[in-house]
Amino acid sequence: MRTYHIITYGCQMNENDSEKLAKMLTDLGYEATQDPRSAAILVMNTCSVRENADDKFFGNLGYMKNLKKETGMLIAVCGCMMQQEHIVAKIMKNYPFVDVLFGTHNIEEFPALLSQRLASGKAAYKVKTEGGAIAEGIGAKRRYAYKAYVTIMQGCNNFCSYCIVPYTRGRERSRKATGILQEIKALADDGVKEMMLLGQNVNSYGIADGFKETFPDLLRQINDIEGIKRIRFMTSHPKDLSAELIEAMAECDKVCKHLHLPLQSGSSRILSLMNRRYDQAHYLSLIEQIKTRIPAIGLTTDIIVGFPGESEEDFEETMNVVKTVRFDSAYTFIFSPRKGTKAARYVYDLDKDTIQRRFQRLLETQKVISGENNAALLNKEVEVLAEGPSKSDITRQSGRTDDNRIVNFVGEAKAGEMAKVLITHTKSFYLEGVEKKH
Ligand code: SAH
Ligand code: SF4
Ligand code: F3S
Repeated sequence: MRTYHIITYGCQMNENDSEKLAKMLTDLGYEATQDPRSAAILVMNTCSVRENADDKFFGNLGYMKNLKKETGMLIAVCGCMMQQEHIVAKIMKNYPFVDVLFGTHNIEEFPALLSQRLASGKAAYKVKTEGGAIAEGIGAKRRYAYKAYVTIMQGCNNFCSYCIVPYTRGRERSRKATGILQEIKALADDGVKEMMLLGQNVNSYGIADGFKETFPDLLRQINDIEGIKRIRFMTSHPKDLSAELIEAMAECDKVCKHLHLPLQSGSSRILSLMNRRYDQAHYLSLIEQIKTRIPAIGLTTDIIVGFPGESEEDFEETMNVVKTVRFDSAYTFIFSPRKGTKAARYVYDLDKDTIQRRFQRLLETQKVISGENNAALLNKEVEVLAEGPSKSDITRQSGRTDDNRIVNFVGEAKAGEMAKVLITHTKSFYLEGVEKKH
């Protein structure tokens, strides 16, 4: 029984890492299984970004302990949490049944650690504290045939005061353009239509490594690769979003007209405490520039509610920006203190009810705006990249527009095909329609 099951927490970078781990296991002769009960190897790829991610992992690990007693499977844990010393110490003390443990900087060592565990019968743990160059050429066992993640850089030098990522992913380092372009060409030859370029802060691509090529240069080169239809990227930091990038987005036909630009807070005072290095005025001027150059742009964002010291006025500033920009959607989070970050030491003086009330108000306001933005598309024709049957209703197909709206539609377009869809109903978080026959 050579089977594996991977559980992935966190962001797309972790998803991409899990695809690489799946490839390594496939190369070793293991097959994927949907059910952890029938897995010989269980991999848990963790995320540290908020406390509930930690809690979910430890809860699940406790459950897996019992499952391991029944099935005898091996348990491997990896990902961002393993870059935190206190987490590794906790696993060694309270979860000694974990067989293999490694971090974000040495995922390529997984096969070696696994065979070490199998040969010796003893747990194999290895974490590197700082990352070197990003490993090239591991390949990925992709979850989707029509779209692929391509990690172009890793790590972060920004140290936003609330964020654990610079500690778990290390300093910023970028892959050389040649390796990235080669990978994307191979993916295009393999029929992949949409490339999602990943990095914690793609706008500073190559800067820390002293590359001549900037992120806009890279986008232009990828845009010239034949066969692909769409290029997406995330995440952009407002302090580094350049006029050149806006220009490249406008000029490159395959680059999707969608920008995810995390706001975090609308209050300049809180932004400064967050160490974001931009203020409300700068953020709004960027939005103005991009809307002027690319009127059809889809805008999404991340917002944190309840940062230490956030006053009612600060929160109102966030609401004001949300109402001014009118994002198509927003990922909203309640501040979660992360051990080792600066903000974890700030005085945390807000009560849960206040935070919850603000959070709800923000959600409701954003929901109305999302609904209104979508309603403007009623009876319009949009082009989608089909992604296969809809998760909520398998009689319909699902797809995304260039500006990242989800469209559930009646039609025949298969995953990976482009389809023209007439929008017949609109909701806050998706659109409905009927495919137009040519
Ligand atoms: N590199 C990206 C993503 C970072 S994590 C960026 O800079 O935007 C994704 C989102 O999680 C962040 O944008 C932020 O909104 C949220 N987040 C990060 N740390 C958090 C914390 N300690 N508490 C609550 N939300 C947090
Ligand atoms: Fe975290 Fe800030 Fe870096 Fe994003 S830019 S990963 S929020 S430190
Ligand atoms: Fe989580 Fe690590 Fe991504 S902390 S959000 S999995 S970079």
